[in-house]
Amino acid sequence: MSFASDPRIDDERRDSSGRSRTEDGTRPSPHLDAADVCASAPGRVEFIGNHTDYNGGWVLGATIDRRVAVGLTRRDDEWITLESADDVSSLRVSLGEVTARSGEEGWGSYVLGVLAVLRNEGLAVDHGFDLRVESTLPVGAGLSSSAALELATALALTEAFDGAFDRKTLARLAQRAENEYVGVPCGLLDQAVVAFGAADRLVRIDARTEEITTVPFPASTSLWIFRTHEAHALADAHYQERHDEAHAARDRLDELIGPVEHLVDVSPSQLESVKDRLEPPLYRRARHVITEHRRVRRAVHLLEQESHEEVGELLFASHASSREDYENSTPELDFVVDRLEETDHVLGARLTGAGFGGAAMAWTRTSFGEEQARAVGEAYADRFGQELDVLPCHPAPGATVHA
Ligand code: GLA
Repeated sequence: MSFASDPRIDDERRDSSGRSRTEDGTRPSPHLDAADVCASAPGRVEFIGNHTDYNGGWVLGATIDRRVAVGLTRRDDEWITLESADDVSSLRVSLGEVTARSGEEGWGSYVLGVLAVLRNEGLAVDHGFDLRVESTLPVGAGLSSSAALELATALALTEAFDGAFDRKTLARLAQRAENEYVGVPCGLLDQAVVAFGAADRLVRIDARTEEITTVPFPASTSLWIFRTHEAHALADAHYQERHDEAHAARDRLDELIGPVEHLVDVSPSQLESVKDRLEPPLYRRARHVITEHRRVRRAVHLLEQESHEEVGELLFASHASSREDYENSTPELDFVVDRLEETDHVLGARLTGAGFGGAAMAWTRTSFGEEQARAVGEAYADRFGQELDVLPCHPAPGATVHA
């Protein structure tokens, strides 16, 4: 097991212009100091609300204190160069050939996709630029490094080329870039949390109305991430499959009890009344989304009442629903959540994000510490013969341009 602590890009403070500087007054990384514009964005956890976002439901997420930073410098010619401090290929493309990338250059699609949608929306990018990426956020862990890169890029581009887009528009455009250029039919969760997250807050999204608000993250509690290394090779294909099944379930329910605009419009009793007329997998997908939406609403209410134990129960119930009905958990994630459920000081735990591998999240009292986390990691190593990465984290500022 490894403990990943001491993130480099952290602890920002905003000044009156909304810009921010890191704790020591510098940009997030000295390597980005020379850039014309520097922007960064955090990763996120999905606190509760699994696969509700593309079904018109509610979701609660939180930014974490791990970030992706980009430094952008304008060039005098039409070339765009992309490089990363991580061990991935650099790219060089001309402004006239901004297209999706694949293979070794696949990461470039997040940047180029955002560039393409912003230009479609009128951003006048009349010069090439060099863009360098640095990150303290693990990639492929289900913590939305892609949305973080998209939002950091969107802010850097709009700052460098004088765009005027509000945050919600930027979140939507970043989502569109992921849908159209990366090819994942994700909802708004990741991009909205990354854009609207704040220190010590949870972000609540109503996907139907796209209303985004924040609620306080309880001070007496902590977040821990347990990253399995079982990222499923077919995760994107499974995501697409679940997305399509959920929409097929909605269409079927629209025929049976209509009108149904979103799956979450159906009540649990309405669903039960037509159970025999739905294919069993569609019934299970619908039951997960319908009950999960209600769990999120209840969690928001219970957080206001400071009923933390009951919120924790909802997190465990969410995981069970993902495992049984949405079938997007894995034996590794189930094991971690089961161990956490038996561990002192844990309020709740569940898989976080798309599932099919990736990370589980624990919401704990602050009395939960490395000793308890280590015990979970050791049990995991005994069972699977593999390391579990443990990241203590905390709700952190959202995407920002650095002065
Ligand atoms: C991924 C997607 C989100 C959301 C979650 C599951 O993180 O990007 O839009 O659907 O999975 O809740």
